[in-house]
Amino acid sequence: MPRPGTDIEKARTTRHRSEKRPEVLVLHGPNLNLLGRREPSVYGRKTLAGIDAELRTLAQELGVSVRCFQSNSEGALVDEIHRANGTVQFIIINAAAYTHTSVAIRDALLGVGLPAIEVHLSNTQKREAFRHRSLLADVVVGQIAGFGALSYSLALRAAAALLAAAE
Ligand code: DQA
Repeated sequence: MPRPGTDIEKARTTRHRSEKRPEVLVLHGPNLNLLGRREPSVYGRKTLAGIDAELRTLAQELGVSVRCFQSNSEGALVDEIHRANGTVQFIIINAAAYTHTSVAIRDALLGVGLPAIEVHLSNTQKREAFRHRSLLADVVVGQIAGFGALSYSLALRAAAALLAAAE
């Protein structure tokens, strides 16, 4: 990337081949399993299970399906991105701390060529300098950060709108 046109086109053809509702893979990186009790003043009080449940409900409304996956391991996230190839039409990713360090996750996104949105609960630009850099920023369609759990819902709405526009 950046090849949004090409990637949306790929998403469209994959979907038509499978004739199913488009599937959006939601990836959560390290420490996000602790949401609800982890630094609630920064990340809010919603649990990850609560966020995933809200996304599943919203997905119904938007006519897409979501699959959610969390791992504290960089390799497991890379493997999940690889598995998405051919089965998933869009990726929403909060790579958490790996956002700032992971060439491997960046390369995996480039490797599968699926359109993706980068999400953060907190506004990383208002935080420590090491969080200002994202290795994913230029390989995703766009970033949504700073809205707490709502960042994920906004991302899902954007993904569904982009997929519908590509039909
Ligand atoms: C985060 C921001 C990252 O800097 C941090 O390492 C996280 C969560 C967020 O959602 O705000 O773990 O991705």
